Amino acid sequence: MGKLSGKVAIVSGSGRGIGRAVAMKLASEGASIVVNDLDAGPANEVVAAIEAAGGTAIACVGNVTAPDFGERFVRAAIDGFGGLDIIVNNAGYTRDGVIQKQTDEQFQAMIDVHVTAPFRILRAAAEPFRTFAKQEAAEGREVIRKVVNISSMAGTHGNAGQVNYSSAKAAVVGMTKTLSKEWGRLKVCVNCVAFGFIETRLTKPNDDPETRIEIEGRTIQAGVPTAMLGALKTMVPLGRAGTVEEAAGGVYLFCAPESDYITGEVLVVGGGVSL
Ligand SMILES: NC(=O)c1ccc[n+]([C@@H]2O[C@H](COP(=O)([O-])OP(=O)(O)OC[C@H]3O[C@@H](n4cnc5c(N)ncnc54)[C@H](O)[C@@H]3O)[C@@H](O)[C@H]2O)c1
Repeated sequence: MGKLSGKVAIVSGSGRGIGRAVAMKLASEGASIVVNDLDAGPANEVVAAIEAAGGTAIACVGNVTAPDFGERFVRAAIDGFGGLDIIVNNAGYTRDGVIQKQTDEQFQAMIDVHVTAPFRILRAAAEPFRTFAKQEAAEGREVIRKVVNISSMAGTHGNAGQVNYSSAKAAVVGMTKTLSKEWGRLKVCVNCVAFGFIETRLTKPNDDPETRIEIEGRTIQAGVPTAMLGALKTMVPLGRAGTVEEAAGGVYLFCAPESDYITGEVLVVGGGVSL
């Protein structure tokens, strides 16, 4: 019996990177997972990996920025597994540039994926959460549900070249704190994890082909300038970037029953960096 046995979790952007590690970790603790990514390939690969490890998962493929995606994602959990206990808003990417070179579209794209999409997913969960809480209260039971929104130290501390991304990730903190106040009465804990420097394709040297990512037919250059990478690592007291498993560990802390009385918090998972 895992600590999340019987729970149902939805994890956006879980076909790769940190989201994949979160999905694997929650599944290893017994949660049934709805895996999401833009394309079926990565999403189905993660479903197969969870099943191969003895867990349970289904895929809900699609772009989180689609207006109807929030409803579809929440429905996938309720129809597929009969409930919804954990939401991890993780899907995202970067489109860097100094402010004078950023277009409106480039700025808005970060707001769409990091702020509007989680807003719609959480709004879609509001009614089911209210119904579950009412029913459980009538039965004299208290069931604690969890939301973990993924932010970044770019949002909590700022980062040159990321005015779009850091603005969006800062908004995630505001959304988290407000919903923790709205949803306490529904017994939903809403917290945020802000990562520092975690090893994924978003933080590889930007001359690595893996950092050229496809989003809706557009090729986006992610990654970090090679010259900056060494400097970034020397700023980390623990002396290295985090692994995706270590990043997932931070998210798991907020999903585990031990954090049932913690809500409205931002946990920095950054190896000790305080910029
Ligand atoms: N890697 C880091 O150092 C770091 C630091 C701070 C915050 N973050 C945040 O962590 C989250 C995960 O990033 P990662 O580093 O694992 O990146 P990643 O590229 O390895 O994984 C992100 C996944 O999200 C998916 N995705 C992107 N846009 C999507 C959309 N519109 N709809 C559905 N799926 C979408 C991608 O296809 C990909 O599989 C992001 O929100 C990112 O901003 C990462």
